[in-house]
Amino acid sequence: MRGWLLASPPDTNGRPLTPPASHLVPAPGGLAMSQNRTPNAEEFHQPALADEVIALLAPVIPGVVIDATFGGGGHSRRMLDEFGDQVTVIGIDRDPAAVANGATIGVPVVEANFTDLAEVVQQADVRPAAVLFDFGVSSHQLDEPERGFSYRRVGPLDMRMGPDARRTASQIVNEWSIEELTRIIREYGEERQARRIARAILEARPIATTGELADAIARAMPAARRRVGHPARRTFQAIRIAVNSELEAIELGLDAAIDSVGVGGRVVAISYHSLEDRIVKRRFARGAEGCTCPPDLPVCGCDNTTDLRILTRKPIRASEEEVLANKRARSALLRAVEKLDDGKLAA
Ligand SMILES: C[S@@+](CC[C@H](N)C(=O)[O-])C[C@H]1O[C@@H](n2cnc3c(N)ncnc32)[C@H](O)[C@@H]1O
Repeated sequence: MRGWLLASPPDTNGRPLTPPASHLVPAPGGLAMSQNRTPNAEEFHQPALADEVIALLAPVIPGVVIDATFGGGGHSRRMLDEFGDQVTVIGIDRDPAAVANGATIGVPVVEANFTDLAEVVQQADVRPAAVLFDFGVSSHQLDEPERGFSYRRVGPLDMRMGPDARRTASQIVNEWSIEELTRIIREYGEERQARRIARAILEARPIATTGELADAIARAMPAARRRVGHPARRTFQAIRIAVNSELEAIELGLDAAIDSVGVGGRVVAISYHSLEDRIVKRRFARGAEGCTCPPDLPVCGCDNTTDLRILTRKPIRASEEEVLANKRARSALLRAVEKLDDGKLAA
């Protein structure tokens, strides 16, 4: 939460993390942000599957909803539009730029990692009726070159969603061993050319910018791969996930959300790739299946209780119409659960 703001870690090559452009200022915590006007919430991020989120939340309203990935507040805004004063929305985001955005729609947003959701809830002294997660980066984060997320725009190798991230992309790219790089590119990027790319990164060191990194990756790729989408997309995803410990955070955040909501409360999660969705699917399934002991065991030894009811057997996807209006919605996968009373199905 606030107070975690750290000084920006130095670039491993002694260069500043932000290019010396006059329109850039270090934000609190060292994250680079543009001095241009603050984008309004709609420009900041267009929410995916907003109608479906509203339909899943409607049964638990009136109540408090934690928007655990506030971003541009697109989902929060829809909740306020639909439910009016029947809903109290509290936002969480690890990015100070998203936190500042809360004020524009009158929603209090706590600067925190959603792994600390239990603390946020305790300090607010509320029992949420629902928690919403909309994982990944916002369009705003991707579009600001100085944040270093984009392989299409030149910026510093940063990629931190917030100042609480333990490392920058520069540290990974310039310091990690070929084995470590290969592992994250393969696991988090699901990239078949992981070893080849890792070798190319080592050869290109020192690498200062996203442009240099994207070029090194593109040069390492077989010609056929350069024709299908951007050759650096998967590697950038992998590095971003490693910088922000994203997958570990999802596991902890889901646990905290399930513990925090009241009986009959709901947890709704939107993922954008199979790694995220697999974690959500497994966590929800674990809560729904209960005891996993072999049937011939006389006494339960696993202590797993059925505390969730799955509301979405298959992930909900965006309609063609929505995908036409919002390209990012194409990969969105929504799953939701309801918390049960004492291991029995809620009515
Ligand atoms: C896809 S955007 C959310 C967009 C939002 N639903 C909207 O409609 O505007 C994801 C946001 O979650 C934040 N985020 C990602 N992982 C986080 C974490 N572990 N803790 C807190 N915030 C996180 C990012 O900083 C980003 O602002």
